[in-house]
Amino acid sequence: MPKHVVRLLILLGAGLAVGLIAKWLFTAESFYEFGHYRADSVAEIAAKEPVLQTAAYCQSCHSERHAQWSANNHKTVTCETCHGAAEGHPQKGKLPIPADTRKLCSLCHEKMAERPRTQPQIDLAQHGAGQQCATCHNPHAPKLAGVVAKVSGDAAAGRKKHAESCASCHGTNGISPNDTWPNLAGQNAAYLVRILAAYKSGAQTDVMMSPMAQTLGDGDIQNLAAYYEGLSCKAPASGKAAGDAAAGKALAQNCAACHGETGVGTNPAWPQLAGQKAVYLANTLKAFRAGLRKDPMMAGVVRGLSDADIANLAAYYAAQSCGPRKTS
Ligand code: HEC
Ligand code: HEC
Ligand code: HEC
Ligand code: HEC
Ligand code: HEC
Ligand code: HEC
Repeated sequence: MPKHVVRLLILLGAGLAVGLIAKWLFTAESFYEFGHYRADSVAEIAAKEPVLQTAAYCQSCHSERHAQWSANNHKTVTCETCHGAAEGHPQKGKLPIPADTRKLCSLCHEKMAERPRTQPQIDLAQHGAGQQCATCHNPHAPKLAGVVAKVSGDAAAGRKKHAESCASCHGTNGISPNDTWPNLAGQNAAYLVRILAAYKSGAQTDVMMSPMAQTLGDGDIQNLAAYYEGLSCKAPASGKAAGDAAAGKALAQNCAACHGETGVGTNPAWPQLAGQKAVYLANTLKAFRAGLRKDPMMAGVVRGLSDADIANLAAYYAAQSCGPRKTS
């Protein structure tokens, strides 16, 4: 036989031997016993921990977050859609907190012609001034409009209660005589109901206001809110504010989505800022920043403000003319 044919046969034989050895060593016992199906592996697959858990799994440890999420619009978006698969959590580490919410949220909310109308959509260029979505929206309770408290109070009864208990601090006509105490005249009734209820329940606290609010019944709160909303918010110009109103105006662009360009917003559940006392505005902004006053929307926007920013914003809003209230 010619040498090259022998070499070829040896090569083929060696290849065959390697193939056979590989088959004996590396194939599972049930190889091709059931066609393509690896029936012997069922137990092995079943023994694996599921990669995705359910929201009920998260509930056992993150009950507060779960309660907020399940009561709001995102209850159809599971926790793991945003936080990633829970496999091995918490034993093997924390789950990531999405840092870039503009990227995450626009996956589902960016305006697209093909997207079903039922899924809320926004024009990224027009909406939110390029800020992170989580600045204004709480990802676990994203809807902002809030529940607008119904106000059905009797202003005359509110006036009586005011004269008895509130006028000493908030002024006979709802314009406070003291820079650190807020004006109430012309404030949105729905906001007043909400904030008085918060003082009453203890969700918001203040050494002076908390004891006052605890004496009020639900009817009193309704009446007082109706009364204050009807008062003229025109206040005599107070002394020069500490901040720079022009610098405040530029910063206020970030607040306009909710409080309006000049502090006269459109949502009655949110407070008017125009014409409010500058010192009060600055104090309450600092309270939000320190986490002493809690609100999911305000918590995000005040996070990055310096003391100087706060003074400038306060000066700007205090100098704006309040009302007439825009309703839309
Ligand atoms: C057995 C309890 C347990 C379960 C179940 C659980 N977690 Fe956690 N989770 C923890 C603990 C403990 C931490 C660490 C908290 C810390 O160190 O601040 C944590 C941290 C996190 C963090 C990071 C928080 C931070 O401040 O860095 C996220 C996000 C998170 N979990 C999401 C989830 C999600 C989503 C689920 C459900 C799929 C889930 N967890 C299920 C116990 C649990
Ligand atoms: C739509 C996306 C989304 C969904 C759904 C979602 N999260 Fe989050 N979660 C976020 C984002 C974004 C943050 C960071 C919040 C921030 O920056 O204010 C966060 C923060 C957290 C944190 C850390 C909070 C902190 O302040 O340290 C925990 C814990 C958490 N989420 C748990 C859950 C659980 C449990 C669920 C389901 C019940 C859930 N999340 C559903 C997007 C989501
Ligand atoms: C996986 C897709 C998905 C992601 C990611 C997602 N959302 Fe949503 N979001 C939805 C759906 C679906 C609804 C409507 C739920 C319903 O009310 O039926 C919704 C509702 C909302 C609403 C309420 C709109 C309204 O007026 O009713 C807001 C606001 C919102 N999302 C903001 C956000 C923000 C901010 C983020 C990022 C932290 C985010 N979403 C991430 C799917 C998503
Ligand atoms: C500066 C604050 C701000 C930022 C930042 C912001 N939003 Fe909004 N968003 C609002 C306000 C205000 C509304 C209207 C709420 C209302 O009056 O009901 C709104 C409404 C929405 C709605 C409901 C729209 C509808 O038609 O029902 C969605 C969805 C939404 N935002 C998603 C996002 C996403 C996604 C991002 C990040 C890319 C984002 N938002 C950033 C303030 C903001
Ligand atoms: C002893 C003085 C005092 C009395 C009396 C008083 N308040 Fe106040 N009130 C305050 C102070 C101080 C604040 C600001 C608290 C803060 O900075 O958190 C305030 C805040 C408020 C706010 C919140 C305003 C805003 O813009 O958020 C409302 C509403 C209010 N008071 C209503 C009332 C009513 C109604 C009464 C009468 C039942 C009353 N107050 C009696 C001192 C008083
Ligand atoms: C996403 C909507 C939103 C944005 C953006 C926003 N706010 Fe607010 N703001 C609110 C809500 C809601 C409240 C009522 C909070 C409460 O009930 O405690 C509030 C309350 C306030 C108060 C308290 C008013 C009072 O009478 O007690 C001040 C001051 C304030 N905001 C200033 C600002 C400033 C300054 C900015 C911009 C840097 C800003 N807000 C941006 C929603 C917003």
